[in-house]
Amino acid sequence: MRPIPIVSMTLVMAIAAILLPDSAMAEMSKKKQAQYPAKDELPDVNHPLVKKWVAEIDWSKVPKIPIAKAVIPNCPDCPKGKKGVDKNACWWTCDGCVAHDDIEVCPREKAWGLTYDDGPSEETPRLLKKLLQANVTSTFFVVGSRIMEYPETLIQEVKEGHHIGLHTWSHAGMTSLTNEQIVAEIKWAEKIVFDVTGLKTKYWRPPYGDVDNRVRAIVRQMGYKTVIWTKEWDSNDWQIPDKTITNKEVFRNFKWALSTVPKMKGGIITLEHDLFTQTVNVAGPLLDMGMKKGLEPMDIAQCVNDPEPYQNSALLSQKEAAKKPAVAKPDVKPAAVPAKPVTPQAQTPLVAPKAASLPKPDGKVTEDEDIAIKKVQTSGATQIAWSAACLAIVAASALLSL
Ligand SMILES: *[C@@H]1O[C@H](CO)[C@@H](O)[C@H](O)[C@H]1NC(C)=O
Ligand SMILES: [Zn+2]
Repeated sequence: MRPIPIVSMTLVMAIAAILLPDSAMAEMSKKKQAQYPAKDELPDVNHPLVKKWVAEIDWSKVPKIPIAKAVIPNCPDCPKGKKGVDKNACWWTCDGCVAHDDIEVCPREKAWGLTYDDGPSEETPRLLKKLLQANVTSTFFVVGSRIMEYPETLIQEVKEGHHIGLHTWSHAGMTSLTNEQIVAEIKWAEKIVFDVTGLKTKYWRPPYGDVDNRVRAIVRQMGYKTVIWTKEWDSNDWQIPDKTITNKEVFRNFKWALSTVPKMKGGIITLEHDLFTQTVNVAGPLLDMGMKKGLEPMDIAQCVNDPEPYQNSALLSQKEAAKKPAVAKPDVKPAAVPAKPVTPQAQTPLVAPKAASLPKPDGKVTEDEDIAIKKVQTSGATQIAWSAACLAIVAASALLSL
């Protein structure tokens, strides 16, 4: 038999790549999007599904803590002065209070819980490539609204063995929402992840780390574990596009944090973002720096040693087992779900790893970054503003507590 002419195949594929839209970048169809709340907006609490979800909660278990003031979706204002924060609220953003079941660190020494928030975005595939090369899985805390734009990227994250957690529907500060709005923010994000991947998420990270005992009591009943990050290990990468910090400063801060590793009792959880060009640019070098210091990067399920990273993990593995002898039925859920990381050696290096796409630790703004900054100013401006607002608050409350 004649071998397939490789050259012409390549040519056909190249032409196809030009003519066809990149499927990895394809937004959900308008029709599909219409099944979900509007992008980046608080979901309607009168929607029948929200009413059903709200009815599933035992509200007697939810403490009556006043709703925080905020310009939604900005990070809420912390009450001023010493008496400001009610101790019973255990409000992490404002007083650093941690509940017994908040996940802030990895228990094992050297364990490094790697987390990226706010995606998926068009920058995510570049990060995925780096993680695959490093043979590392991370947890992606995804925003429901972004999944409408990049559903294929979410599927890619799952296929490459990463762990998916929720970061709500519209990225509002949860303590500033009503009980019903909190339910809607979580459940709509949960639903879109489930619809796209077949996974029912079990871990979530509150936007801005904004969580108190009212929010916790609600999310626990929906089966969620709250993941914050380790103090001192916030990369502050999101401030790079905001131009309030340089790459160099991010690296310097991280280096300082790394110098504390030998004295640490357990592991750490870092906070990074996969929403912007600049944050993905620093992600690679940060990963390399940490690994060089002996930290062992892993996703949050691995960090807390949870063999069931999803609420439906057991069900999925049963299904997987049951499916083996029989012919797969085409009626089931979308993307099949590998629980374990894919082996990276299976990956053929189609393109030589581009050093160009990775970081220049010199902090200079390149033309590329300039373009990205402009983009940020249109599409992501609000997000940046939210984070900035929150940082100011956390900094202020840290000063108060001194
Ligand atoms: C990749 O990581 C897995 C699990 O962490 C390990 O078993 C495997 O040996 C690694 N592969 C390579 C090529 O390093
Ligand atoms: Zn976020």
